[in-house]
Parts: sequence; C-alpha cells; structure tokens
Amino acid sequence: MARHGASYLVAAVASMGGLLFGYDIGVMANVLEMNFFKMFFNNPSESAQGVIVSFLTLGCFVGSLVAGQVTDIFSRKYSILAASLIFIGGSIIQGASNGYAMLVIGRFINGLAVGVLSQAVPTYQSEVSAPEVRGRLVSLQQWAITWGIAIAFWIGVGLDSIDSNKSWRITLYLQTVPAGLLFCGMFFMPFSPRWLASKDRYDEALVVLARLRSGGDTTNPEVLDELETIKEGIRIDREGAKRSYLDLLKYPIRRRLYLGIITQALQQLTGINVIMYYAPRIFKQAGIGNGDDSNINLIATGINGCVNIIATVPAILYVDRWGRRNTLMFGALGCGLAYLVLALCIACGGSSVYEGGSKVVVMHNNAASITAIVMVYIFVASFAVSWGPVGWIYPAEIFPNDVRAKSTSITTAANWLLNFVVGLVSPILIKKITYGIYLIFTGFMALAIVMVYFFYPETKGRTLEQMEIVFSGSIWANRDYKRVEQEINKASS
Ligand code: GLC
Repeated sequence: MARHGASYLVAAVASMGGLLFGYDIGVMANVLEMNFFKMFFNNPSESAQGVIVSFLTLGCFVGSLVAGQVTDIFSRKYSILAASLIFIGGSIIQGASNGYAMLVIGRFINGLAVGVLSQAVPTYQSEVSAPEVRGRLVSLQQWAITWGIAIAFWIGVGLDSIDSNKSWRITLYLQTVPAGLLFCGMFFMPFSPRWLASKDRYDEALVVLARLRSGGDTTNPEVLDELETIKEGIRIDREGAKRSYLDLLKYPIRRRLYLGIITQALQQLTGINVIMYYAPRIFKQAGIGNGDDSNINLIATGINGCVNIIATVPAILYVDRWGRRNTLMFGALGCGLAYLVLALCIACGGSSVYEGGSKVVVMHNNAASITAIVMVYIFVASFAVSWGPVGWIYPAEIFPNDVRAKSTSITTAANWLLNFVVGLVSPILIKKITYGIYLIFTGFMALAIVMVYFFYPETKGRTLEQMEIVFSGSIWANRDYKRVEQEINKASS
C-alpha cells in the first residue's frame, strides 16, 4: 500500500468525477417528485419528464464520443478540469431555470461533462496505476458513482421538506459542489505519464512516474524500467502508420474493441438502471409503500443506495486478486439468479389490477413480497461487486497507448447508449410484460457468463503494455493465464 500511496491519492482525486456521474443519475428521481418543482413546471407530463431525465444520457453519449479526441489532444488532466467547469455551468443553468428549455439544456450540458469524465477518469486512473493495483484504483470511480447516487437521493429527501421553490433549485445548485472539489483537486494532480510519453515528453513522464512510484527518486531502477517499457510500447505502436478510428475495426484492435463494447453493453444489460431509476416503482409492485405510505418506499430505495456503496468495497479490495473473469462470471450468476427469483415471486405472488387502463401487478403475498425485496438487494450487491467496477476497468486496460482514448470513447458511448435505451424502454416493459422484463435480463446474464468464459482473456496483474501479448494469438488459448505468462516471459527474455 505504502509503495502505491501516491497513485492511490491521484486515482482517488480523479474518482470524484464519479460523484458528478452518480449525483446526476440519482438527482432527478427526487426532483421530479418535489411539489414545488411540479407546480413551477405545471405538472410536467410523463414524456416531458422522460426528456428531462434522458437528455442527461444523450449528452453523456455525445460527450463520451468526443472525449477520445479531446483527451488525446489536450491531455486526460485538462479534459477532466474542463469537464468539471462545464458541469458547474450546466448545474447553474439548471438551478436558475426559468422554464423547461433551460432545464433540459442544463441537463444536456451536464451530460456532455459526465460523458467526457466517464471516459477520461478510468483512462487516467489506469494509466497512473501499477498493474498490481490497477483494478482497485479504477474501481474507485465506481465507488464514487455509488456515493453520488446515494447522496443525491438523501439530499433530495432532506430538501423536499423546504416549503418553497428553493427545494429543487438548491438540490440542482448543489451539483456544483462535487464539481468544484474535482476541479480544485485535479488542478494539483500530474499529467498521465503514458499521455506525456505519447507526446514525447519523456523527462516529464519520468518525474511523474518517480513521484507515483518511488517518492520522487528519478534514478530508481524500477521506475526507469517502467518508462523504458512504456517507450518501447509507443515505439511499436508507431511502427505502423498512425492509427485512425477506422483502424480500430482492423486486426489487432478489433477483437479488443468488440470485447470493450460488449463489456460495457452487458454492464447495462444486467438491468442495473431499472433499479436505479425505477426502484420506488418496483418496491411498490412488491407490495410496500402502497397507498399514502410512501415513506417505507423511500427508505427501501435509500437502503438500496447503501447496499450499492457497501457491496462495491470487496471489489475495490479484491478485484486484483480474484481477476476480471471470475468476478464477471460470479457477478452475472448472482444478478441473473436474483432477477429470476424476483420474476418468480411476482409471477406467483402477484395479482393484476388495472390502473388507468393498463395492467399493473401488485403483490399481496407477504412471503413473496419480502423475498422480492431481498432479491432486489441481492441483485444490486451482485452488480456492485462485479459488473459495476469491472465494466469500467476492463475497457480502460485492454487497448494500446496510441488508441486507448479513441477506443474507450467508443466503448463508453456504447455504455451510455444502452443506458439510454434501458431507461427509456423499461417503464414500458414493466407495464406491458411485468415480470417478463427480469427474465429478459436473466437471459442476458446467461449470455454474459458464456461470453466471459469463452472469449475474455484475464488481464489482472498485466502491465498495459503486456496486453499486446494477452490479446494476440488465439482467444481460446489466451484464456489460460499461465500460458500467457510463459509468452510474456519468453518475449521479455
Ligand atoms: C455503473 C453504471 C451506471 C449505474 C451505476 C450504478 O456505474 O455504469 O449506469 O447507474 O453503475 O451503481
């Protein structure tokens, strides 16, 4: 730990980007329910609410797509700084909204910033980390996301009691706080050593690596070795022509691009955001918080946020030991089974009633209700310990230096696109096919286990430069960690 102290600090500061991400995922659920908000915006219709919620994800999608170029040209560090300022601007616009358009524009601007951050932060974290703690350091972003979601939720609950328009405005203005902290903290953080090296700024890269690994000693042999490995990686990358976006679709990057996109897509296809966005509705379906007794509902949703935070901790501690493959497969098993049992509970313990012309399932059987609620928590815990963090770690570590930013901007955009789609269609599916929606996600988790088992090489403990060997040759053979180890040893001898 002491050896990596400086990298922990740097990764922790950058991970505050996750706070903005999480806060914005969580904040609207409450604001939309605030009485003064509803009055100010003349009871926004369901579709107006949908636009307010989804313009964030749309902004994130666009932001993550441009992030590839931006973080390559201006550096990971300056991109994070710029994104936090843009986020402050978007938050002020939202808090000061005089109407619907201003609010939606503010949400979109915040989305642009979160999109850039969701690509830049894990990329930066993986580039400053030593291989043996890389999984842990990139997990910090996910941990900050879970805190952001929970904080937004509880602040919303707390401020709801303010009896004026201030309640929703303060909740939105408060977004500026984590963004301000991120800006101030990041200001003092170094550039990524790999980004510096990619710009031929080797002397500066050496100083940063020495600060991160050896208390500033630039003559430390391990630090000099690491710089040599990075230089060598860049030299090999440059041997070919400069790679464009089109080259990502060709050997040897194509396979990694697919895996990165599939990882991010499957992270969303766990169905996590059905719970994050619609937990109160699901708890209500499970028979709690019916009628006016909505407090229990809120508490159940709040507990959910806490489960998400707590269950991410074992991943932070152990993901570098468990490895990415095992973590993803066990996580998918947990998520899939929990959703399967949840579906069975609703199927067996629920009865249909008609509300406003559409069918709604409400559960009256106590045992089935309690089991359903427990399954939601088991699902969230299984996600938090696996696909939550590893969904961000894996894409950030598999690409070569010269195309890492371009590639992760595409994989991150895939995440936001699926997030948008899941957010949009799940309320419709919950209404139309009720428990069927959970069976669909169970199906995706079965697919995830098969995909990871057959196609994912293990990446724990490898340097970013060694990924060339990890991903070259037969995928089938490269699932064998020891075999790849031998290849790496052969290459370095
Ligand atoms: C991950 C997902 C995000 C989700 C969050 C929940 O960061 O990318 O969509 O809301 O986990 O903790």
